Amino acid sequence: EKNGYEHFMLKEIYEQPTTIFDAMRGRISSKENRVTLRGLEEYANRFVRANRIIIVACGTSYHSGLIGEYLIEDLARIPVEVEYASEFRYRNPILNERDIVIALSQSGETADTLAALELAKQKGAMIYGIVNSVGSSIARLTDAGSYIHAGPEIGVASTKAFTGQVTVLTLLALSMAQKLSTVSNTTFQTLVTELESIPEKVKECLKADEHIRYIAKEIKHHHNALYLGRGYNFPVALEGALKLKEISYIHAEGYPAAEMKHGPIALIDETMPVIVTATNQSAYEKIISNVQEVLARKGVVIAVVPKGETAISSMAHHVIEIPATEEQLSPLLSVIPLQLLSYHIAVELGRNVDQPRNLAKSVTVE
Ligand code: F6R
Repeated sequence: EKNGYEHFMLKEIYEQPTTIFDAMRGRISSKENRVTLRGLEEYANRFVRANRIIIVACGTSYHSGLIGEYLIEDLARIPVEVEYASEFRYRNPILNERDIVIALSQSGETADTLAALELAKQKGAMIYGIVNSVGSSIARLTDAGSYIHAGPEIGVASTKAFTGQVTVLTLLALSMAQKLSTVSNTTFQTLVTELESIPEKVKECLKADEHIRYIAKEIKHHHNALYLGRGYNFPVALEGALKLKEISYIHAEGYPAAEMKHGPIALIDETMPVIVTATNQSAYEKIISNVQEVLARKGVVIAVVPKGETAISSMAHHVIEIPATEEQLSPLLSVIPLQLLSYHIAVELGRNVDQPRNLAKSVTVE
């Protein structure tokens, strides 16, 4: 079942060129200049008239939700809020018929996410699911939705479900943007064409595997790690940190790079690896200065950069190159090395990668 891979997690990381393709299959055509999600088409009126979109999720799915927020606000210009399902459901949220609540869930069975949707439905909001498990409780409850079609995810640490969710959120944002005319035709074309090339670029990212294994050996003995990113790569930093915590049991935190100054910088010394995702075109100079601040305090910098980058690469202790892409699509690539890094650190430390302690694949109780 593992297809020759040592662990399900590794197999699922390597499946991503295919699963991202499957999430787009039949839904996107650069030739026809279109993106179509059937579930969205059914409720197109509700979507274009929406006052607000609220995304509810837990864990890794919450992180893809944050990327969804950047995408939908950036491209479709509709305000988005992302909430932990557990917090949303217990705080008497303000909701009405002009709101759309989108649930993100791999399993489709997460208790808090399901309860958040039930509440949203009661309050008259339209509820939409972006789910992997076909026929799951969340899929059945929602008014409409889009499956990510990633196939069963067995490893407890979510990988291909994350990129599948981000892919569908990208399609959703693009489709809404086209309906609302909030992006130019050129931008739309560029993003659609580039999205079609993402599976090939993920294959490129996977080629860094051996190099990442080497980096894992170099940093595995540390007890803490900091993940930094800005903009679209901030949620990627959160996800990188969660992956490391879950399967290697090393304490890690993700931060927006500029927040470092407001506290976490006090932690930085030669025992602190800092993983910086620097694939942004915007705010690039600012990321360079964030890296300089870390180096000045003797932090160990591991930088994820676009191929050919020189400014950060020449300063960092370790560099992982990934293909260049449009900024809006960069999380689909930049998360891959972070998944591999946590995988290899966990293997090096002899952890139970596929079934980490205290964790369940499907959290059906709150
Ligand atoms: C992280 C992980 C969990 C889940 C979370 C939500 O690797 O697996 O954080 O992402 O429990 O699960 P779903 O997406 O099934 O609702």
